[in-house]
Amino acid sequence: MLSREDNDILTLTGPGTAMGDYFRRYWIPFALARELPERDGPPVRVEILGEKLLAFRDSEGRVGLIEGKCPHRGADLYWGRNEECGIRCVFHGFKFDVEGNCVDMPIMVETDALRARAKILAYPTLERGGLLWAYMGPAEHKPAPPDLEFTVVPDSHAYVSKKLQECNWAQAVEGALDTAHFSFLHNVITTDEAEAKTLMRGAAIATQSVANDRIRWVRADRMPKFTILPHDVGMTIGASRKTDDSDLYWRIAQFLLPNHALVPSSFPGEVYHGQCWVPISDTHCWIYTYTWHPDRPLTNAEIEGYETGHSIHAEVDEKFVPFRHRANEYLIDRLEQKTKTYTGIKGVSEQDACIQDSQGFIADRQRELLGPTDIGVVRFRQVMLQGAKALREGREPDAASKPAAYRVRGGGWVASGGKGLEEVMVERFGHVRGLVESPGRQAAE
Ligand code: FES
Ligand SMILES: [Fe+2]
Repeated sequence: MLSREDNDILTLTGPGTAMGDYFRRYWIPFALARELPERDGPPVRVEILGEKLLAFRDSEGRVGLIEGKCPHRGADLYWGRNEECGIRCVFHGFKFDVEGNCVDMPIMVETDALRARAKILAYPTLERGGLLWAYMGPAEHKPAPPDLEFTVVPDSHAYVSKKLQECNWAQAVEGALDTAHFSFLHNVITTDEAEAKTLMRGAAIATQSVANDRIRWVRADRMPKFTILPHDVGMTIGASRKTDDSDLYWRIAQFLLPNHALVPSSFPGEVYHGQCWVPISDTHCWIYTYTWHPDRPLTNAEIEGYETGHSIHAEVDEKFVPFRHRANEYLIDRLEQKTKTYTGIKGVSEQDACIQDSQGFIADRQRELLGPTDIGVVRFRQVMLQGAKALREGREPDAASKPAAYRVRGGGWVASGGKGLEEVMVERFGHVRGLVESPGRQAAE
């Protein structure tokens, strides 16, 4: 449970809010790099943290993220002409570069003072891991970008996608950190093992030889035991379930400040997945989903599966709106719900979206009945509220300045019972926090 005041601090990220300021101390994805494929191509509207902006790629390939309004008489630069290292307002010809400088004002006699007044807001950007990132905070606090593993493997080893989610960012993150819901939300009713495996193929759990076992364990033990290990840039969230003998089946997620989570399902040799939740407004967010393999390129079949399958990547239209969404009731099939799956909704991503949207555009955390499996959610709120409140009191976030600490993995493992999460982490990842030294290699302790 949270007080109304804390719920507001946690969820609201517009300019001038405590959480908005906290987000603005980190690099935040604002578009897929493929949304701006060509130099001097069409600009793209960007709405992020309650700010309406415009992105464009200039003649030299640099990406600008600028205020979309022309300072002359307020025309929308979205209609502008992207030409020779700048975007030109087509009303009277003012032209702006990627840094927001007004480089041409053909209807006026230019002076330094006039040029200074015509400068528009522009945020620093960079391109990494198939995403475009912005830093929207004070220049003197700009950190290095986080070394997330998917951003440092070769391009061919990673795939990124984007989807609209019609609710506040924080409850969507909570949905990812509450890994206990796997026993229901993404699970099947059918008792036929082969059918269960087919239905759960998209859930990144049913791809390898131990898949049948994993499905059975998740279905049988609905009360996983959670252990949290806080670390420099967030926390490791381990949940263990009983197996057929005295071993434990661990699903280990990572939360990385302020808005990334790594999926807990992958065994060694499988692909890894993570997500980043970026507030558009207080009631909508973009979810960037990334999949990577540390050691090999992704196959065409895998990528096709992410684009058209029922996985953690949603099937979306050209505006990144999922085909199954709030307005069409996620195309729920009540017959399938009666006979095959808990939700009757196709796709892990859409099952998550349905249930997170259903908590309200902004979940009311004053009315909750939390239990032991909600511990990851509780700790997430604590760490975010602490960070935002500390910043309001003048203490800068530590995590922003530790890019290498982001190079961690989450994943699954079977370990003999009686081992604590720290021991399991070393056994599974070679490092107590899941740190990888460089792509394809795990760190020695
Ligand atoms: S409004 Fe843009 S140049 Fe006049
Ligand atoms: Fe889920």
